[in-house]
Amino acid sequence: MSAFTLPEPSLDPLLNLISQYRADTRSNKIDLGVGVYRDDNGHTPVLAAVKTAEARLYESQDSKSYLGLTGDSDFVDVLGNLLFQSPTGRSVAGAQTPGGSGALRLAAELYKTAYPDNTLWVGLPTWPNHLPLVESVGIKTATYPYFSREKQALLFDSMLEHLSNASAGDAVLLHGCCHNPTGADLSSTQWSELATLLADKELIPIVDLAYHGLGDGLLQDLNGTRTVIQHCPQTLVATSCSKNFGLYRDRVGAVYMVADNKALAIRAQAYFGHVARRIYSMPPDHGAAVVKMILTDSNLRQEWQTELGTMVQRLNTLRKAIAAAGASIGLEFVSEQKGMFSLLPLSPEQVDSLIGDHAVYLAGDGRINIAGCQPPHLEHFIESLKSVDFHF
Ligand code: LMR
Repeated sequence: MSAFTLPEPSLDPLLNLISQYRADTRSNKIDLGVGVYRDDNGHTPVLAAVKTAEARLYESQDSKSYLGLTGDSDFVDVLGNLLFQSPTGRSVAGAQTPGGSGALRLAAELYKTAYPDNTLWVGLPTWPNHLPLVESVGIKTATYPYFSREKQALLFDSMLEHLSNASAGDAVLLHGCCHNPTGADLSSTQWSELATLLADKELIPIVDLAYHGLGDGLLQDLNGTRTVIQHCPQTLVATSCSKNFGLYRDRVGAVYMVADNKALAIRAQAYFGHVARRIYSMPPDHGAAVVKMILTDSNLRQEWQTELGTMVQRLNTLRKAIAAAGASIGLEFVSEQKGMFSLLPLSPEQVDSLIGDHAVYLAGDGRINIAGCQPPHLEHFIESLKSVDFHF
């Protein structure tokens, strides 16, 4: 009789931290691990705009029947308008997805179908799930340098040099804003230079917009994505409402293809549904219905934008506080970066000691979630860094 043989799966480096942290009984523990927003009490709240929309939905929703393979087209349009605002000369195809990961998966599947023999280029360092996610589709990958953790500086020239070796039809995965894990984004000039290279070399941009609105604002955070769309005939965009709407567990996202010809957009639209059917059939509806309600009601939309603004302001205040408290160990760079993360140049041994000896939980590569560093924890955090001889 044959038996299942299952090799030990590798633990997800980020999600594993959640259970490790929960199991830790030390009272001074600090959670700078997984990328969720936290308030001053270390809590990840449900936004008030979300609560109101949920209550209205409870009253008004009269059916739970299927919506379709690409979800609710009104949600897709409303979110698409927030992102693209009818780009001139472009047609937009889109599908609702289970979170930003679902969106990336559909983008990767679509790309693989069109360019089965090409390579997808991923900048390093990156979100640890990027490579496993796209490689699970069977895409060949290559990497380009993006950021030096040791210098806390973008490696823009090196990035362009590597990408100039890519072949026509290769794809390039980009972080639209609030780069995860470094918090270091390209400047407007750099986005333009990059977009020109992508267009000249006929490369396909795939933009991951998981942190839209957590950097310089809803409009400014789209600067890079829109520049790429203007330059390139086809752009794939994967977006998520996990962070900006705080809808993490409800799994709300969308994938878009912005194309220079309508026939291709129509085909891509059909293809998104075709791929979804083979994986999960249809995306979950609840969170997307909430987002649609917020974005189509001017009061709720205003309330959401105010709440998002408060989150961003708090992140920026925490960045400044970390930079000031850690000035003697060189942490000033933290205040220059954006979004939820910074990547500290720590060795694996230093990270182990921070977790094991000091109850400071952070990702293995040295990434910290700024939102987890509430003011009462700041001193313990900085003292712990000093204890492991961190100095930038
Ligand atoms: C993170 O980077 O911590 C978040 O995006 C959560 C995740 O799914 O990894």
